[in-house]
Amino acid sequence: MKHYTSIHDIDNINYWIEEAKALKTNPLKHITLGKHKTLGLLFFNSSLRTRLSTQKAALNLGMDPIVMNVSGDAWGIEFGDGTVMNGNTAEHIKEAAAVVSQYCDIIAVRAFPTLADKIKDESEEVLKSFVKYASVPIVNMESATGHPLQGLTDAITISEHAKTARPKVVLSWAPHIKALPHAVANSFTQVMQRMEVDFVIANPEGYNLNPEITGDTPIIHNQHEAFKDADFVYVKNWSSYDNYGKVINTDSRWMITKEKLGQAKFMHCLPVRRNVIVDDAVLDSNSSLVIQQANNRTYAAQLVLKKLLENIK
Ligand code: CP
Repeated sequence: MKHYTSIHDIDNINYWIEEAKALKTNPLKHITLGKHKTLGLLFFNSSLRTRLSTQKAALNLGMDPIVMNVSGDAWGIEFGDGTVMNGNTAEHIKEAAAVVSQYCDIIAVRAFPTLADKIKDESEEVLKSFVKYASVPIVNMESATGHPLQGLTDAITISEHAKTARPKVVLSWAPHIKALPHAVANSFTQVMQRMEVDFVIANPEGYNLNPEITGDTPIIHNQHEAFKDADFVYVKNWSSYDNYGKVINTDSRWMITKEKLGQAKFMHCLPVRRNVIVDDAVLDSNSSLVIQQANNRTYAAQLVLKKLLENIK
């Protein structure tokens, strides 16, 4: 594996899950693998879990992580080819990516979508520019359309907590006041499609995800019907894909309650707005796996970094 930019970079999800579980039982087993290697983490957007868990993963492998908040702290980066740079951008990605490659053996990038320009977002301009102009492996820490470190984490967590060989997993939209990206829902869908699970998506009319990603996955517009016999309910808000980036419905009847959840386990990538997305009673109960998910972020990232390090050694 040269880069980790999407769920498609996982060659065998079952092997990866088992490898991640093994790392979790002995996190420091490969402490010398990353010795004298540097991980650069570049954040164009805010983060708590990704920022800390990816550094923790690097430290567990003996790597030295260095972190930069690009928006605000770095020079404004230009991504356009042939642009006359007489506006707000001071440095071109061609130089920026090449320069960061002089200091880092692996570069991890977080760059959210505009949610205003679908074509630009789907072009994955920032992530793909780093892949193109950096000379070292690139890790996607959440891009315009995908969050593959989170998707891998969620697959590990479901595997750990599944009580049947083929659990039922529901990805459910829930209300939110702001327009949010599709990245987490996209990567979760892509990874569930590759696992031994019965997977359905529940969302209101007008909130179907990109059909190129959902493919044959059943989409149900009745949340109660979708939740029937569910083992895992993975909850996330996303803005409209068809009416791109718009909030067209904040129907509080889609909020997750204990009654709706039944015996299912509750999952969410965090951060989550209490009593908007989900009732306090769910988050504060044993039904919630959100902290276990957050813990697994370290081992998902560690597995990815380990595979990249093995490839560049
Ligand atoms: N789930 C997740 O990516 O969290 P952060 O945005 O805090 O990194």
